[in-house]
Formats: sequence, structure tokens, C-alpha cells
Amino acid sequence: MNKTILTGDRPTGKLHLGHYVGSLKNRVELQNSGEYDKIFIMIADQQALTDNADNPKKIIDHVSEVALDYLSVGIDPQKSTIFLQSDIPEISELNMYFQNLVTVSRVQRNPTVKAEIQQKGFGQSVPVGFFVYSISQAADILAFRGTHVPAGEDQKPLIEQANEIVATFSRYYDPNLFTPIEHILPPAGMGRLVGIDGKGKMSKSLNNGIYLSDDPDTIQQKVMKMYTDPNHINVSDPGQVEGNVVFTYLDVFATDKEKVAELKEHYRAGGLGDVKIKRYLNEILQDTLRPFREKREELAKDKSAIMSILEAGGNQAREVAADTLSKAKTSMGINYFNR
Ligand code: TRP
Repeated sequence: MNKTILTGDRPTGKLHLGHYVGSLKNRVELQNSGEYDKIFIMIADQQALTDNADNPKKIIDHVSEVALDYLSVGIDPQKSTIFLQSDIPEISELNMYFQNLVTVSRVQRNPTVKAEIQQKGFGQSVPVGFFVYSISQAADILAFRGTHVPAGEDQKPLIEQANEIVATFSRYYDPNLFTPIEHILPPAGMGRLVGIDGKGKMSKSLNNGIYLSDDPDTIQQKVMKMYTDPNHINVSDPGQVEGNVVFTYLDVFATDKEKVAELKEHYRAGGLGDVKIKRYLNEILQDTLRPFREKREELAKDKSAIMSILEAGGNQAREVAADTLSKAKTSMGINYFNR
């Protein structure tokens, strides 16, 4: 069976460690596994505009930033097609036919969409484009006949809804054009990372992130500010490891698991200061992020080269999407001129 990956991100900000742990790292591994015939990575600028229509500059400014983040962690344009959603009008056209296969109540019930409407405080003023983005996301995937979507747990309801669209399209028009989509979750323990304040997931809006592009001093300052155990006041006090962000990060990023186990034991018993564990974590994060930052700085010198990668990716992606659209229209009987 043909295996095609399609995944992407809204370019609403630079990518942070949470993105790295929850998706980018896994994408690079999937890319290098050689198990997939095609890999498409989409910068979802149109989806980002569904709730930023009044501020397109925010989205436009982050297109090249997200592309730089991709390239800096090892997404390789020779192996993965990186492109812009707005560069592929065929997705929108497919979306239009898909909209007829989904009811308003189904869209309204989508837990991810519901949660976002809450978070964004839309109240009664939900933009129509935002309201229906779950359908356009199905078109994002199916325009490339994507079979596998690596994405966080939060994307599950969107993939379920896309699979219902596959089923309905198959029933109405062609049982062979689209196949059910498989959701590839991040590896165990690699779900979305908690922010440095320990309050919630790392996110731009909570201002609790460490960015892939942060400089060494900024990284260190953020590590030193990390939430630990508020009751661990004197070094000699026993400390709590659970919910302590420094240990959460050590579990994720430290390769010397034995040392982490020893530090935990020492911390629990008392006698191990926060500054010590923070210094250790800082070293690890500096080592993790240094190669990304260096590559990013190098690539950022030539923004036009970044745009050329997106343009070339767009050309490749459009060929596939145009073929899918043509086949979809044929199966519906509306490809009047066989284009
Ligand atoms: N909804 C995703 C996010 O918010 C971005 C996205 C758009 C996406 N289209 C996609 C992800 C298709 C996976 C597949 O990050």
C-alpha cells in the first residue's frame, strides 16, 4: 500500500520546544525512516487566517519563521515537500465538495473546534471560515491522498471527522479514491510539553515557552525561572519531583536516565538545591538547541532561498492535488471537460 504523510502547522508564531517534542522530532524520524513514499508538510496559512483575518501580517511574518524552524530541526526538502496551503487552490476546491458531505451539527460537535472557540473567546461571533476549518483540514490531507497524519492528541477529533468524509465520499462517489487516514501519535511521554510555569501546555499565548530560536542567555533565564516545588524552600528540605517542571524536562531531554533517577532520589530526600538541577537541565537544553539555532541562523541569512524552497514545494504539491481533484470531479461526474 502507498504510504503518504501529510501534516502541518498554523504559522501563528515561531515553534517552541513543545512543538519539537510533540511533533517535529517525530516527523524527522518518520522522514528518515524511509518507510513513507511521500511526505508533505504544509504551512497552514489559510487555516491561520480563519481567526486572524484582521491581522494577516502576523501570519505572513511567521511563514518563513516556521519554514526555518522546520529546516533547522532536520526536515529535509529533498525528502519532504514543504509548501504553503494558500499556494494550492485545489485544496479549497476539494473543500467545497467536502462541505456538502458534513452537517452543521457535526461541525459544531467537533471537540477540538469547540475547545478552540471557547479558548479564543469568540462567543457568538465565530467566523464562518473558522467554524468549518475541520472540513478544510480533511481537504488538506485528502488532496494529497494522505494515509498517515502525525499530529498531537488534540488533532484526533479532526482526523475522525476527516475519516467520516472519506466514508461518505466513498459511499456517494468512489470507494477507491480515498483511504482511511491513520493518526500517528507522538511516542509515549512525548505528548505536548508543559510550559516553564508548570501551569499548562507550552504555548505562545501563555508566554511560557522556550523557542527553537532562543539565544543561550534567554534559554538559561527561562530555565532559572522554571516552576519547581514551591515548598522546597531550603536546600535541606525534601522536595517534590511530581509536577516539578525541571524534572519533567529532565525526563524528556536527558539521555543519562540513571543520573536523573539519582537526582530525583536526592531531591526527594532533601539536600539538593533547585539551582543545581536547573544548571544541569540548562546544559542539556543548550546542547539540544545549539545545533538547531546554528543551522537556523545560517539559513536565515538568505530568506529568498527559504521562499524558493516553499515555491518548489508548492509546485510539487500542486501537481498531486490537481490530480486528486481531477479524479474526485470525475467520480462525481462533474469533470465535464476531462481536465
Ligand atoms: N490544525 C493544525 C494545527 O493547528 C494544522 C493543520 C492544518 C494540520 N491542516 C492540517 C495538521 C492537516 C495536520 C494535517 O496545528
